[in-house]
Amino acid sequence: MKILLTEQQIAEKVRHLGAQLSDDYGGKNPVLIGCLKGCVVFLADLMRVITVPHAIDFVRTSTYGKGQVSSGAVRADLFDVDIRGRHAVVVEDIVDTGLTLGYLTEALTKQEPLSLKVCALLVKPGAYRAPVTIDYKGFDIPDDFVVGYGLDWGERYRHLPYVAVVDEQDD
Ligand code: IMP
Ligand code: MG
Repeated sequence: MKILLTEQQIAEKVRHLGAQLSDDYGGKNPVLIGCLKGCVVFLADLMRVITVPHAIDFVRTSTYGKGQVSSGAVRADLFDVDIRGRHAVVVEDIVDTGLTLGYLTEALTKQEPLSLKVCALLVKPGAYRAPVTIDYKGFDIPDDFVVGYGLDWGERYRHLPYVAVVDEQDD
């Protein structure tokens, strides 16, 4: 396991994103839509550095199976999210191919929100080939499988306070 982003680097970036969102959403009472489960740590930190009133809600998306291999199929469970007439910001832990985000934003757009933006902590190179716009971006990272700060590998490592690259010895 090799640390890619330290706790301090992440905290600094989250504060910056929070300041940006606070500037852009004053008086708009936006709803932050966290994508379970990977978003939990990021969203919990982000909402505490946003200084303007906002709501939170959750959706559940899944593409990846138990390991590092994507099944390719995206599933989105919107639960009872209703953003009609609201300003909404999707909060994602990581964007890899952009498939999940593309599918999710399309589903959410059908609800006719006043606006829909995307905030992602980590962005892999493949995301730039996808037809998705990331309005608030934390870090560009290499095309390695990463864990920690909410991200898992077969449900492991979500609790790590930093982001690390998994290597063969970690199995
Ligand atoms: P995409 O649809 O390819 O953009 O994949 C997005 C989802 O795959 C993310 O929300 C994560 O759940 C998962 N994912 C992609 N890359 C990683 C990684 O490096 N570590 C852990 N999960 C990942
Ligand atoms: Mg995710």
